[in-house]
Amino acid sequence: MNGLCSLLGVEAPIVLAPFGPWEEVELAAAVCNAGGLGSLGTALRSTDELRQQWRRLRELTDRPFAVNHTGRPLNQEAFDATLEARPAAISFHMGIPADLIAQAHDQGISWIQAVGDVDAADMALEAGADVLIAQGTESGGNAGWISTLVLVPAVVDLAGTTPVVAAGGIADGRGMAAALALGAQGVSLGTRFLATTEMTIDQAWKDRIVAAHARDAVKVANADRALPPFNLAQVGAPFAPRALRTPLVDQLEQDPDSLDPPALAARVRAGVLAGGGHDLLPFTGQSAELIHDIVSAAEVVSRLMTECAAALHQAETVLPSGASIAPMGQT
Ligand SMILES: Cc1cc2nc3c(=O)[nH]c(=O)nc-3n(C[C@H](O)[C@H](O)[C@H](O)COP(=O)(O)O)c2cc1C
Repeated sequence: MNGLCSLLGVEAPIVLAPFGPWEEVELAAAVCNAGGLGSLGTALRSTDELRQQWRRLRELTDRPFAVNHTGRPLNQEAFDATLEARPAAISFHMGIPADLIAQAHDQGISWIQAVGDVDAADMALEAGADVLIAQGTESGGNAGWISTLVLVPAVVDLAGTTPVVAAGGIADGRGMAAALALGAQGVSLGTRFLATTEMTIDQAWKDRIVAAHARDAVKVANADRALPPFNLAQVGAPFAPRALRTPLVDQLEQDPDSLDPPALAARVRAGVLAGGGHDLLPFTGQSAELIHDIVSAAEVVSRLMTECAAALHQAETVLPSGASIAPMGQT
């Protein structure tokens, strides 16, 4: 039995990424009902709005889900409300707060910690995380600088019996199969799930994902001028978001001093909370290269499972005859 699935109470080792302030209740419900782990972001939203989201999700599914928090910044009131609401798991990014992990455990909530390098993985294990998300630089949204192909096995080597989930650059069953071959027990997908029928982002953003090449999803330079500040200690090189190009992304790169950080952060916040933001910072990962259609979340989960099995089988056929049955190191 997959340890990740039994820990989280899900059938498919597939996690829907949290999307910060972007509304994803219907999408999370669809992923939960398809057997995966749905997630909800919390960024920029009031605690009342979040409580309503959690209530709606519980009306749409009786399956387990995760609520996400980050250190950009940590909203203590929303975190306390999350503890009261008792989701199956809290996922956390950009900060490794051992005290909050202990509080989650006191409520019987599992802790899923995103890490971008092995130092962070070490700290997360020490702090008591139940699951590590090894998040590669290919990811949409805030991420570090190490590729998924390098990061996942490095984190797996450290993690021992703690399940590792691979994130960043995975959009189909081939990527999922690769992640499992690297030792991950599951995958977390963001960009692929943005381009689904249930996701609430503007159609123009979904269409751009379908049309985009990997090189169109760039690391946003000087993003600190546009995003809320961190209020927890960070590990390693500072995270930077990956997004499709917009006039704002270009201006941040070419002429950052022309942008006033408080005014810009307020503009981004207002745009996102009004249901937009795709014209400013449309967070998107390199896996846009692999996304060619907008389908339902259930279709994404079903394709991932079918294609993953086929890709693992296909990989075995590439090995010289007999190699697949000899345990590693004993040939
Ligand atoms: C629009 C968007 C918003 C995101 N917001 C968050 C967030 O609030 N918290 C978080 O932990 N990760 C966030 N992420 C990162 C995802 O959790 C995930 O690691 C990433 O999308 C995986 O890479 P992929 O996009 O290549 O699938 C976001 C990603 C996107 C695309």
